[in-house]
Amino acid sequence: MLKMKTFQEYLNEFLEKFKDFSAKYDHTINHCSELEILIDDYSKFILNEKNKEVWEQLELQECRNFNQLVGDLRKKAALCVAIMEKYRALKLLSGNTESNNYFENIELCIEKEFGQFQITSESKVLLVGSGSFPMTPLLIARRTGAEVIGIDIDDEAIKFGRNVVEKLGSELNIRLEKIAVEELNVVNELTHIIFSSTVDNKYDILDQLHTLTNENIIVAMRYGDQLKSLFNFPMREVDNKKWKIVENILRPDHVFDIVLYKKA
Ligand SMILES: C[S@@+](CC[C@H](N)C(=O)[O-])C[C@H]1O[C@@H](n2cnc3c(N)ncnc32)[C@H](O)[C@@H]1O
Repeated sequence: MLKMKTFQEYLNEFLEKFKDFSAKYDHTINHCSELEILIDDYSKFILNEKNKEVWEQLELQECRNFNQLVGDLRKKAALCVAIMEKYRALKLLSGNTESNNYFENIELCIEKEFGQFQITSESKVLLVGSGSFPMTPLLIARRTGAEVIGIDIDDEAIKFGRNVVEKLGSELNIRLEKIAVEELNVVNELTHIIFSSTVDNKYDILDQLHTLTNENIIVAMRYGDQLKSLFNFPMREVDNKKWKIVENILRPDHVFDIVLYKKA
């Protein structure tokens, strides 16, 4: 009992800190280092095997307050990751390029994103939720020569993202836009789509993409279930007349997992 209480206390503490950091963001790199440490600690908390066991016990109890806490934490953590990307962009654009573990973890994930359905120089890739520091478009475009389009709902993320791409890969075929999938004129030519794990309505967009995309499209949905759902929006059931799972790439050492869908 004591163990469970301690776990929830940790979660409450993380939530208060995330709320505090999201309120404090002022478009400068003030508080950057502290937020880096917090996100790093949170990542370690989520990957900790002992916490996994506690989570499984708590899940069995199906407590409403606990579910509410998890939902709030996930939203605030997602916001802080987006802010962390803004800090990273601001630092790069002012000449500072140091990295931290959270980003290294994500960068390692990108390598194996599409399992057997590899991206080639002929591919046309869409990233939903490209963020202020578009690591995924940069890595894909550099490694494969593919065309990459990133979309985001946040004006500042698009502005920073474009400046980061200009600085780190101006020769690459990358375009960032603040548009919705239905406004994308090449949506039917896409070969691969990636969803950022912290996009809240990613499954609604996936559903919508069924009629907009071609028959061979392959979708990589980043997600996190159980303990990882503290940091990521989880996997959801899909309409099995529209989409089918072709691979589920579980990564015990990474903050999110990836499920691949093709048309049913
Ligand atoms: C921080 S970034 C990428 C984080 C991390 N690489 C990941 O996989 O989740 C997530 C971005 O998604 C954007 N976003 C959230 N909801 C979105 C939506 N419905 N459509 C497009 N972008 C969205 C946010 O503005 C944010 O910039």
